Amino acid sequence: MALVLVLLPVGLVQAAPTAPGQAAIATAHPMATAAGREVLEAGGNAFDAAVAITATLAVVEPYSSGLGGGGFYLLHDAASGRDVMLDARERAPGQASRDMYLDDEGNPQPDLSVDGPLAAGIPGIPAALDHLAEEFGRLPLSTTLDPAIRAARDGFQVTEMYRRLAGFREELLADDPGSRTIFLDEGKLPALGHVIRQPDLAETLERIAIEGRDGFYQGELAGRLVDGVRKAGGIWCRSDLAGYRVVEREPVVSRFRGFEVVSAAPPSSGGVAIAQILNTYGVLERRAGELDDLSVLGLHYRVEAMRRAYRDRAEYLGDPDYVDMPLERLTSDHYAAGLAVGISPTDATRSASLAPVVTEPEGPHTTHFSVMDGEGNYVAATLSINYPFGAGVTVPGTGVLLNDEMDDFSQKPGVPNVYGLVGAEANAVQPGKRPLSSMSPTFVRSDELVGVLGTPGGSRIITMVLGGVLAATRGEPVDQWVAGPRIHHQYLPDRIEVEPGLLDADQRAELELMGHRIEVNDGFGNMQAVAWWREDGRLEAASDPRGEGQAAVFAPKAP
Ligand code: GLY
Repeated sequence: MALVLVLLPVGLVQAAPTAPGQAAIATAHPMATAAGREVLEAGGNAFDAAVAITATLAVVEPYSSGLGGGGFYLLHDAASGRDVMLDARERAPGQASRDMYLDDEGNPQPDLSVDGPLAAGIPGIPAALDHLAEEFGRLPLSTTLDPAIRAARDGFQVTEMYRRLAGFREELLADDPGSRTIFLDEGKLPALGHVIRQPDLAETLERIAIEGRDGFYQGELAGRLVDGVRKAGGIWCRSDLAGYRVVEREPVVSRFRGFEVVSAAPPSSGGVAIAQILNTYGVLERRAGELDDLSVLGLHYRVEAMRRAYRDRAEYLGDPDYVDMPLERLTSDHYAAGLAVGISPTDATRSASLAPVVTEPEGPHTTHFSVMDGEGNYVAATLSINYPFGAGVTVPGTGVLLNDEMDDFSQKPGVPNVYGLVGAEANAVQPGKRPLSSMSPTFVRSDELVGVLGTPGGSRIITMVLGGVLAATRGEPVDQWVAGPRIHHQYLPDRIEVEPGLLDADQRAELELMGHRIEVNDGFGNMQAVAWWREDGRLEAASDPRGEGQAAVFAPKAP
């Protein structure tokens, strides 16, 4: 009897299941979603799927990510219960210097950090593929890279988005013989449905499949990369490639409305800014008693919290291997309470009235994917090619399109970058340093929910992810997280950006009366999210309707 009494409650406990059983994927391209699914159906886990998805996106979304780029992977390992941030951000080459983008008079030359080989940092994605496979996956790279190798060899079709972004960079692509041959059609913007084939990239991926990270960072391919970059006027050395390492870092964790929010650590500013905004908003919510996120007061408070977090981001954040940052203070409740004291319920703060630091947005052409396997491992990964098609240079004989992530450094503290804005000392260029990022792969968790989300969008990434987190805490379905209209403020320029549909005329007038300047912008972002509602076992995935991605929930077949 005693045994029954002990066992019965255990058997009856409707404890949240420890694994979803099914798998879910959301990515920015149907071929990447299919690649992840193929690998999960071959017996891989979420980390193997992350390898397949990353490599396939590198082939089919050359305007948003690639082997020449970098990114951040937020990983949850079900067996250990551990969260890890894999930092695969690019590093500045050893010959980089603080003034490398300034002319003889000390004026910034913005094109140098955006177009051409001087804009390229040392890539992190190939090392991330190897690290994910070695440390977290269970399938060999020869299996997980296979869908991407096929996509590179057999090709993919040009879409509306491809045409829009290649059109934006057409001149740059046409000027580089490698990029012109691959990404244009006889020097012109390819038609819808035109097939882009990348045989050199297929070979590079094959090399990584066989040799792992050394296939990229050492040996013949490394030689080709360095020769190609230097011939084009760049400064890469063999030692930069050989010395590149991904870093496992502790994510930033905050608590809000009973949820745990886990996000990217520096050199991303995402987790710190999201924590600071949520903490400040939480104080204001308690002060108000009850707060509707979409009411005028809720939006005003959200904007005021954003304003202060972006100011601090600009002043304090950079690469943790180079800069001391007051992270504990910035993410503490005590600090948020102090910020909230200065926030009026009726009046907008002028950014210029806060201590004067200026912000520097990142390039928007980045990608995100979210994946969860049946065992409860999950990955949120945000990967970046900074401007569409990066630096526009494809290194001959490699298929590797160079990125222009170096523009995410402050070109000259106190002097405007390509957007006319200036950054602070913490993010100045230094050899080997990683540029500050806004990429914010994020988990939002409670006893009832595991949410996995993220988006591209440069400096707007942080506020979009915040919007997704708020929607999750309101219990909205995952398609609302990704589709809901967005609101953004980044301290400077001092204005709110909103998507059409968020504010009605009365709300807009009320916010303007408070002193806010409002700009209505077309849709931004391309969020990809997965949600596992543990109470009823529901698994959901959603791909942002603003993009061309695809979400899937399925029961992986036994291999
Ligand atoms: N290049 C976009 C970011 O790092 O935030």
